[in-house]
Amino acid sequence: MNLHKKRLVLALTGCSLATGIVVSAFAANEAATTDEMPYQGLVELGFPAPQEGELVHVPPTMADLEEADIHPELKKVIRYGYDLFTNTQQLRGENVYNDMNCSSCHLGEGRQPFSAPVWAAAVTLPDFRGKNQHVNNLEERIAGCFAYSMNGTPPEYGSDEMLALSAYHQWLATGAPMYPSQPIYGRGFPAPDEPAEAPDYARGEVAYQENCAICHQEDGSGHYENGEYVFPAPWGDGSNNWGAGIVRVDTAAGFIYNNMPLGQPRSLSDQDAWDIAYYMSSQERPQDPRYTGDIVETAERFGPTFHKRSLYGQTREHDGHVLGDHDNFGEKGDIEPWNVGMPRFESLADE
Ligand code: HEC
Ligand code: HEC
Repeated sequence: MNLHKKRLVLALTGCSLATGIVVSAFAANEAATTDEMPYQGLVELGFPAPQEGELVHVPPTMADLEEADIHPELKKVIRYGYDLFTNTQQLRGENVYNDMNCSSCHLGEGRQPFSAPVWAAAVTLPDFRGKNQHVNNLEERIAGCFAYSMNGTPPEYGSDEMLALSAYHQWLATGAPMYPSQPIYGRGFPAPDEPAEAPDYARGEVAYQENCAICHQEDGSGHYENGEYVFPAPWGDGSNNWGAGIVRVDTAAGFIYNNMPLGQPRSLSDQDAWDIAYYMSSQERPQDPRYTGDIVETAERFGPTFHKRSLYGQTREHDGHVLGDHDNFGEKGDIEPWNVGMPRFESLADE
C-alpha cells in the first residue's frame, strides 16, 4: 500500500484533518491522490476551497469499482446503473422522452462537486421534500428527475433499472457518513453572487449566442443525430419540462456558472451567468406534468413550493408571450408520469 492510499484509508475511518474539514475520501481517485486536499484542481479553476466544517467526499470511480472487494453480482448491477446514468437514452420512448442523459446535467458521471453530485441524496434521504410535501427516499428522488428533467415516466420502484441506479448512487457515497450534520462541499448548483444589474433578456441573448450557441445551437435545440446524442437541448421539445429543477432561474445560473461553457467552468462573469440563465429560462419547453389545463391555476398551485423561482406563467416582455401557456408535452404526448401527484402517507395524515 502506498502512502497516499494509507492516508486515504485513515481518512475513511472518519478522522478530521487539522483544518477541521471532515474528509471522507475513497481509494485511488486522481483528485484525492495527487493533491494535499481533495479537489485542489477545482480550487485552481476558481471554485471555492472546502470550508471548515464541510463534509468533503471524493466518490469512487468506475476504475475503483473493478478493484473493490464487493460481490461480483453487485458490481454488475452498479455497472448497469452507471451505464443507465451516462446513457439514459437507452430508455428513450419507455422512460425518457427528451434528448438528455442523467449525466447531461450531473457532470463527471454524477461525481463532480458544484454539478449536483448525486451521492449526496444517498446519504441525506429519506427526508421531507418541499416539492412534493412528503418524505422521499432515494428511488423517489431519482423518479423525480425522470418525470421532470428527462420529461419522462420513471422505471417502477424495485425494477432492475431503479435498483441499478440506486446502487450506483449509493456506491458513489461509499465511506460518506449517513445523515451528516455538516454541510456538503459542492452540493447542488450554487448560484453565483447577485448580479450588479437585474438579469436582462437582451444581454442574455447576446451572451448566449457568443458563448453557448456553437454547441447548443442558436435556437437551443442542441444536436441529436441518428439516435446519437451530441449536445443536449437547453430548451425546446428535446429539453427538460417546466417542472424540472433547472427551470428555476437561480438554479440555471448556478448550473451555467459552475459547468458551462463545457470545459471552462467559472469563466463567465456573475452578470453573464445570470443574464444567460434568465434568457434560457424565458424560452419554451414541454409542459409541467402537473399542468391542470390552466397556466394561471397551475402556476399558483405550485408557486409557493416551486414556480416562484421560475418564469413559468409569466409574460415575456419583448413579445407578450405567456411562458408555459400551452399543452405541448413534447415527445411524451399524453403519457402521464405515474409518480406525479401520487398521495403518500395518507394513514398518517391525522397525526
Ligand atoms: C436537466 C438537468 C437534469 C437532468 C437531465 C437530471 N437531473 Fe438530477 N437534478 C437536477 C437538478 C437541477 C437537481 C437539484 C439540484 C439542487 O439541489 O439544487 C437535481 C438533483 C438530483 C438528485 C439529488 C441530489 C442531491 O443533492 O440531493 C439526484 C439523486 C438526481 N438529481 C438524480 C438524477 C438522475 C438519476 C437523473 C437521470 C434519470 C437526473 N438526475 C437527471 C437536474 C437534472
Ligand atoms: C463545447 C460545447 C459546449 C459549450 C460551448 C456549452 N455547452 Fe452546455 N453542454 C455541453 C455538453 C456536452 C453538455 C452535456 C454534458 C455532458 O454530457 O457531459 C452540456 C450541458 C448543458 C446543459 C444541461 C443540459 C441541457 O441541455 O439543458 C445546459 C443548461 C447547458 N449546457 C447550457 C450551456 C450554456 C448556457 C452555455 C454557454 C454559457 C453552454 N452550455 C456552453 C456542451 C457545451
